[in-house]
Formats: sequence, C-alpha cells, structure tokens
Amino acid sequence: MRSPKDFFRPLAVGAPTPVREIPFRPSRMIHFFDPSNEKMAAKVPSIAAQVDVLLGNLEDAVQADRKEAARDGLVAIAKATDFGETQLWTRINSLDSPWVLDDLLTLVTEIGHKLDVIMVPKVEGAEDIHYVDRLLAQLEAKAGLERPILVHAILETATGVANVEEIAGASPRMQGISLGPADLAASRRMKTTRVGGGHPGYLVREDPRPGDTDAPRATHQQDLWHYTIARMVDACAAHGILPYYGPFGDIRDTTACEDQFRNAFLLGCVGAWSLHPVQIDIAKKVFSPAPAEVAWARKVIAAMGDGTGAVMIDGKMQDDATYKQCQVVATLADALAARDPELRDAYAAAEKE
Ligand code: GLV
Ligand code: MG
Repeated sequence: MRSPKDFFRPLAVGAPTPVREIPFRPSRMIHFFDPSNEKMAAKVPSIAAQVDVLLGNLEDAVQADRKEAARDGLVAIAKATDFGETQLWTRINSLDSPWVLDDLLTLVTEIGHKLDVIMVPKVEGAEDIHYVDRLLAQLEAKAGLERPILVHAILETATGVANVEEIAGASPRMQGISLGPADLAASRRMKTTRVGGGHPGYLVREDPRPGDTDAPRATHQQDLWHYTIARMVDACAAHGILPYYGPFGDIRDTTACEDQFRNAFLLGCVGAWSLHPVQIDIAKKVFSPAPAEVAWARKVIAAMGDGTGAVMIDGKMQDDATYKQCQVVATLADALAARDPELRDAYAAAEKE
C-alpha cells in the first residue's frame, strides 16, 4: 500500500510536483481532429481559436497504417502553433496496443511542454492509471518539464465502469473522465449500434386503459446512458475531478446531440466531445449556463447574505442549500465569462433586466 503521505510526491526523480487541485479551465468542448489528415491539420489554427480544448486523436478513427503519421503530425502541429488560452490534449492509443509506448515517449519528450492533458482510452482500473502515472513522471523528468501533464480516462468498458471510483482517485494527475458510449456498448453487449444518444426501442409505455389493452398508448424514450453518466459524475465529484459526456456520432442530428449534451450538463458534466465543427456551437451553448439562470443565481446569492437562513424570492424558498446550488451556477459562469467576452456581456445584460 502506498502511504497517503507519498501521494503528492513525484514518481520519478526530477519530475514536477503533482498538483493538489485540478484547476478548473473551461472545457465545454473537446474538439477532436486527426493529425494525419492534412486538410484537418491545416484548419487547426482557426479551429483552436473557437474551442476550449483541441485534441489530437491518435486512437480509434485513425487507421492502423496512419498511426505514425498521426503522431508525427501532432508533434509538427504542436510545435508550429500558438494555442493561446486553448488547451492542447491528445488521445493516445490504448494501453494494450503496439503504438502507445511510442506515443508517450515521443509526445512527452517532443511537445510535453505544450500538452495539457493526455486522454487514455479503455481504462479498466487503477492499475492502468498507475502505469501511465509512473511512465509520465519518468518522461517528464527526462524532458525537463516544469508542470505535470494531467490524465483523463475514457469510461468505455464494463470493467472500467465497475471500477470508476478507484480510477477517479488513482493519481493526483487525474483531471477527468469521459463517457465512451460506443466502446462501452460493445463491451457490455448492449444492442445499440449508434455512437451515444438514445434508441427508439428503449422506452416505457403508458398503462392500458382498463378493459382496453388494444387502444394506442403513449411511449416515452428513455436515456440509455443515464445510469453510467450519473455514476461517473459521482465518482468524479467525490475525487475533485471533472466529468464529460463523450461523442455523439450522428452529426446531422443536431437536435438530439443538443438534448444528449444538455442531459449530461444538467447531471453535472462540464463538457462533451465535438467530432465536427457543427457540434462546437452546440457544446458552447449547452455547457454555458443560460444568462437568465445566472442572473437568478446571483439574485439568490445576493439575497442570502452570509449564505445561512431562509428567504423567499418570487414565491420560492431559498436556504443554505439553494445558496450552494446557485454558487455552482455563478462560479461556472464567472469562469466561462473570463474566457468568453460574448458570454460575459450576455450575463451582464441579463442581470440588468
Ligand atoms: C469513444 O471512444 C467511444 O468508444 O464512444
Ligand atoms: Mg472508444
């Protein structure tokens, strides 16, 4: 057993000291691009200006014979681009693949100073994070990095879901967890072939009218991902890290994408993946609290003074707990507004109304 006293000691001589808190940086959308695709790579500087996180993907969706081109492409792009306030992440290949060791060796030593977070796919338990943790420390020391690279796990195997709490707390590097609905569906033998979203067969039906079982009855589609997202959110909140909805594969169905993202937002997630530029604005809209909500939250906070006791506002009871709920919304709004002038103006205008 590792003593809790050692948890925040570097895992290699000369590696940077682990962080004690995961800094909250806006990450409403993690925008995926394939660094082996020259057309996509050319758009990186303009896309970087529109997103919170840009992620160079090396894993699934990059063909096996393009793995090295993707890795080299990411190195070249990272060296040539000034990302400003936008975070640069990568998704490395899975830990059981023949590419991952070279992914880590190359990326940390060549562009480690530019990489904020490494996303690790198909994480099954704390042992996977421990492996990456030690290796990163060794490579950070070798590269002379001054701040640790953080780690993000994708929750996309049944074993990973069973172990989600220990994954979330496996290392001070743990920044967050994303749902990976496609791999997770396969791992669990779910019978959906979609990437995220609902399924028309997963529903509840109204009770029959007495004596008339043949009359039409309303049905309501249910959310296939509710249980997993809620579990992931609790594991992340318990360990002070950030939960994300993952990919929504039907690019043309922007309405259902927005619904899925919003469900995740309301349940506690801070962002989602964008797989196509059309999903960037959806994520920006959904994962930024609405101006009217922010204005309401600020009104409650102002009325509650030191945050104790109870007051009535517009016929609704407020107390210590609603004060905390409102602080969640207001704190998020402040963090986003500091990065997004349009949002700052929208929040200020709503407060004046
Ligand atoms: C993402 O990687 C997924 O499998 O859904
Ligand atoms: Mg996957």
